[in-house]
Amino acid sequence: MPLSRRRLLASAGLGAAGVGLGTGGYLVGHDVASAQAAETSGIVPFYGEHQAGIATPAQDRLHFASFDLETESKAELRELMEAWSQAAREMTEGRMIGNENANVYAPPDDTGEALGLTAGNLTVTFGFGPGIFDRAGLGLAAQRPTALRPLPALPGDELNALESDGDICVQACADDPQVVFHAVRNLARIGRGTVTMRWSQLGFGRTSATSRAQETPRNLFGMKDGTANIKAEDTDAMDKFVWVDDGPAWIRGGSYLVTRRIRMNLEVWDRSSLGDQEETIGRQKYNGAPLGGSDEFEPLPLEDKDSNGEPVIPANSHVRLASAQENDGLQILRRGYSFTDGVDQSLGDLEAGLFFIAFQRDPEKQFVALQRKLGVNDALNEYIKHVGSAVFAVPGGVEKGGFVGESLFA
Ligand code: HEM
Repeated sequence: MPLSRRRLLASAGLGAAGVGLGTGGYLVGHDVASAQAAETSGIVPFYGEHQAGIATPAQDRLHFASFDLETESKAELRELMEAWSQAAREMTEGRMIGNENANVYAPPDDTGEALGLTAGNLTVTFGFGPGIFDRAGLGLAAQRPTALRPLPALPGDELNALESDGDICVQACADDPQVVFHAVRNLARIGRGTVTMRWSQLGFGRTSATSRAQETPRNLFGMKDGTANIKAEDTDAMDKFVWVDDGPAWIRGGSYLVTRRIRMNLEVWDRSSLGDQEETIGRQKYNGAPLGGSDEFEPLPLEDKDSNGEPVIPANSHVRLASAQENDGLQILRRGYSFTDGVDQSLGDLEAGLFFIAFQRDPEKQFVALQRKLGVNDALNEYIKHVGSAVFAVPGGVEKGGFVGESLFA
């Protein structure tokens, strides 16, 4: 039976020598009972109607990776998805991938840096980019859902091809940065020869609440982010705006994932007045309430005018332009993370921003429709730049013993 990562360490501390785990220093304070208790907490089921990592309350950390497929063989792609699904299931259960190696001459099945850590609510969500359905050799053209197309050029795009697109994506989210790193690293290792990593993004500080149980977090502009997001408990909204219920069998119960790497010009933002910041977003900085209001969750007073006859929520404010009320009721599920990747050498500023992730039933009708409008009119454009972009079709959930995208290969 595969060992949980915690149990493995605990048993090593109880005298099982030679498992190659280095010092026993990790084990102080741990016993088998606490290891067993850890096993039952922080585990998000891998199997289910939908892949985990969409409706799951957003965890604190992200490692997202996009891969190019290096094979024209459908059988090899199928084998990859089987191997990835098995490894993802083991990791989400807080277990090592495979077994402890008995053979000192072979590389270990698991790289080891997550040993001793809990599952940390790890979810691993897989998606397929539009490109794999164009590859004649793979023979998947008939399985292409009509809603899966490359995103069109959008206003304000300053995209870098090297941090955009890709054939397969892996979204790993957990409450521990080492757990998400371990997940992506090991999937890349398992996929070597079949896929090559094209780009990857680490994220911290979830920028959305996706459950009513979660307090609204703040993005790097210091604003509450996720107030008006779809919450997983709103199952009607999830069905209407997130889960796909038509098209080929493999996409049913799935969704479409759009990523946008958005650079935020923090230095310019930090020099703008509190009033400007609040008018740019349309909400108050400290309590997150709409301008003119006092409670975070009260409706946007879109019809109200100030004493000068100007709208209280400015015409070019981010929330007015993005709100369901001004977009025929349209919504998306936002599930993004903040990032920082060192210094922008051209400016000497922090290279930081929002790794925007949105789930929806139809990217053209939802994300693209919103961004066409935001990219032209949003007051926020003064402070942001979209530098990376990708779209993926996320297959539906996995039945016990199955693997992600199984019906694509039927
Ligand atoms: C760095 C870029 C962005 C920042 C800093 C940002 C920030 C915010 C903030 C602070 C809110 C208000 C709180 C809330 O309801 O969540 C908000 C709302 C929203 N944002 Fe963004 N956002 C960004 C990009 C985008 C993009 C690219 C889209 C979609 C194309 C988007 C769609 C929305 C939507 C739909 C809402 C809810 C509006 C409402 O119904 O009130 N945002 N955003």
